[in-house]
Amino acid sequence: MMYGISRVNLQEGKHDLVKSRLSKRLRALGLGSFKEYLAYLEGDPSGQELSAMVDALTTNKTSFFREAQHFDLLKERLLPGLVSSGKPIRIWSAGCSSGEESYTLAMLVREAVGNNPRQDVKILATDISTKVLAKAKQGVYDQACVEDVPSALLGRYFSTIGTGATRTYQAGDSLRSLVRFARLNLMDAWPMRGPFDIIFCRNVMIYFDRPTQQQLVRRYYDILAQDGHLFVGHSESLTGSALPFRYVQPAVYAK
Ligand SMILES: C[S@@+](CC[C@H](N)C(=O)[O-])C[C@H]1O[C@@H](n2cnc3c(N)ncnc32)[C@H](O)[C@@H]1O
Repeated sequence: MMYGISRVNLQEGKHDLVKSRLSKRLRALGLGSFKEYLAYLEGDPSGQELSAMVDALTTNKTSFFREAQHFDLLKERLLPGLVSSGKPIRIWSAGCSSGEESYTLAMLVREAVGNNPRQDVKILATDISTKVLAKAKQGVYDQACVEDVPSALLGRYFSTIGTGATRTYQAGDSLRSLVRFARLNLMDAWPMRGPFDIIFCRNVMIYFDRPTQQQLVRRYYDILAQDGHLFVGHSESLTGSALPFRYVQPAVYAK
């Protein structure tokens, strides 16, 4: 059931782990058995419980400037070329979690284009989990979360709330205006047409089995612009893919 809807693949020898994690959901809902839970899940067309279930079974771990070489490539090579082409720039952060990846992209875009109103840039950031999306939209992070953001960028793009140990940082309008957060289960039909110049889908496919990963990578290939780039997590790779992707550097591929 879980696998069917989200393709999160926790079947092999992980029954006890799944059971213990889902027990929390059963308790929260006051349900007495997994059978009742499945019935509840199937009777919830809103997708809220699916979202809560994926949250219980997977990690939303993320951070600003995670896997920094990816952002170096963007800053030094890809964004300058895209900006100088003068064409619209379309970026997708697929499996964006609580927004750190999306706002990191937004900072680099702002640095590359400035406030030039003629440069048309949009960053789409999607996730299956409504919980992480709510945090992403809020865009408020504590001191520990922003540790890897260079201080000049932090000062330029975030406002501070509070002081001392409870101080938090909120992404400002110049970042927020670039990013649109939306809920999307990657296994469903995609409402957007593309093409995208840059797709980040990092540390998401690790949850999927090989055929599902391959189907997803095929769909990314189709929705990428010619010369568009796909970024995956460093523990993920496209080795063995039959698609004519060009290897650029670890975990980065060009169409
Ligand atoms: C570990 S986080 C990765 C966040 C970010 N991309 C990074 O690398 O830092 C994985 C995210 O994938 C999302 N996810 C898992 N299955 C998904 C699916 N079927 N569709 C969309 N998002 C999914 C989870 O909700 C979670 O927020």
